[in-house]
Formats: sequence, structure tokens, C-alpha cells
Amino acid sequence: MRTPLIAGNWKMYKTPAETKEFFSRFLPLVEKSTHADIAICPPFVDIAAAVEAAAGSRVGIGAQNCYWQNKEGAFTGEVTPAMLKAAGCAYVIIGHSERRQYFGETDETVLRRTRAALEAGLTPIVCVGELLEEREAGRTNEVLQRQFEGGIAGLSAEEFARIVIAYEPVWAIGTGKVATPETAEEAHKFLRSLAAAKFGKAAADALRILYGGSVKPDNIRGLMAQPDLDGALVGGASLKPEDFAAIINF
Ligand code: PGA
Repeated sequence: MRTPLIAGNWKMYKTPAETKEFFSRFLPLVEKSTHADIAICPPFVDIAAAVEAAAGSRVGIGAQNCYWQNKEGAFTGEVTPAMLKAAGCAYVIIGHSERRQYFGETDETVLRRTRAALEAGLTPIVCVGELLEEREAGRTNEVLQRQFEGGIAGLSAEEFARIVIAYEPVWAIGTGKVATPETAEEAHKFLRSLAAAKFGKAAADALRILYGGSVKPDNIRGLMAQPDLDGALVGGASLKPEDFAAIINF
């Protein structure tokens, strides 16, 4: 059985003080939620505050990106996965569509960052997903296959066993236009079939595939009812303690 993972992606929101305030309201709401793993990925500057606030709870902290090597060096503005681990992170989001769209992230850099994150002992949440025009052109599977083959299939079997994949159709992110449970399930099933072809059925069966894109308290239940949907990566709705807790406690 796959334990669901519900992860919040705060993107570029909140200060350390706001992070502290969030956790003081959020933690009591998920105290009894043992059916799913819970993660929150705040901006880098909030990680220390989040780790401190979440200490002793079941909530794991993650980053939203990391550099592709663990060795320190002259790379202004970058952070190694090992530094994130040392700061108390358990997770890191890799290859989010906003990083692909605005910061030149490619399948190749996704693979390199994922490897470095694994080497540091973090759980990478590797994002894939098609653009609206790609879906409308009927190219969803082709895009997912390209992203899988370029960004994930290069991992060893041992590495693959330690990642989480997030399917995030770009047209559903921040738009309020959630994928229907059936549309999401179709993509998740396809991704699992790619995993089975490359890493074998047992590895594919153990893989957690999260859905992301306008997940809200009122649509999480239908999504989670799908057999290949193992949790969610939540943007906007993870910023409010009550909404994020309602999603976790679907
Ligand atoms: P959203 O973002 O929930 O605000 O659509 C999801 C994501 O980008 O991870």
C-alpha cells in the first residue's frame, strides 16, 4: 500500500514570522492526521523557522529547488541539497513548471538535481506536466514520456525507489481549472506504465504519484478516489492553515 503524501508548495510567499504564525494554527488541525505523510515547502529563508515550528510533529519540511551537486563552490545564489538536509529538510521539489518556464530548467537539469538530492538523503518530488497547447494538440502522453525519459529514466533502480513524482498539468496550476479526477487518473496511469516499463512492475506499484494544479478542499476527495493518485502537491490552498488542513483531512 502506498501512503499518500500531501505537500504544500508555498512558492514565493511568506516571511519567517508568517511561517511561525502559520504553523501555530496549522499543527493542531493535523495532529491526528496519520493517514498521509505531510510536507510543507516554503521559500529558502523560511526553512529554519518551519523546521523549528514543525519539530516533534509529523510535518516534514522541504525546499522548492536545489543545486545539482553537493560539493560547496562558487555558485552565487545556489544552495546544495546537503545544505538543505543539514537545515532540517526532508524533501525538495524539482523541475516545477514555473522553474521550467521562467528559469530555464530542462529535463537534463531535473535529472542532475534529482540525483544530487538523493545523494544528500532528501526525497525529491519531481514535477512533470503538459502545457495547455500540448494537451489541446493531443500531445499529453508524448510530453510526459519525454519528461520521464529525459528527467527520470536516467536514475538507477535504487534511486528511482526513493523519488516521488508530481503530475502537474500546467494549465491547471494557479488557474482554478482543476483536472477532472478522470483526466488526472489517465495521466497518472500512463506515468505508472512508463515506470513499469523502465523499472519493473514492483517499483512502479510502489511509486507515489501526486497530482498538482488547483487542488482545493472541495475537489480533493474526488481526486484521491482515483486508484493511481497518491496525494497532492498544493500551491495556493497550502498558504491558509485551514484550507491546507481540510485538504489533508479530506
Ligand atoms: P496551485 O499550484 O495549487 O496554486 O494550482 C500547484 C503547484 O504549482 O504546485
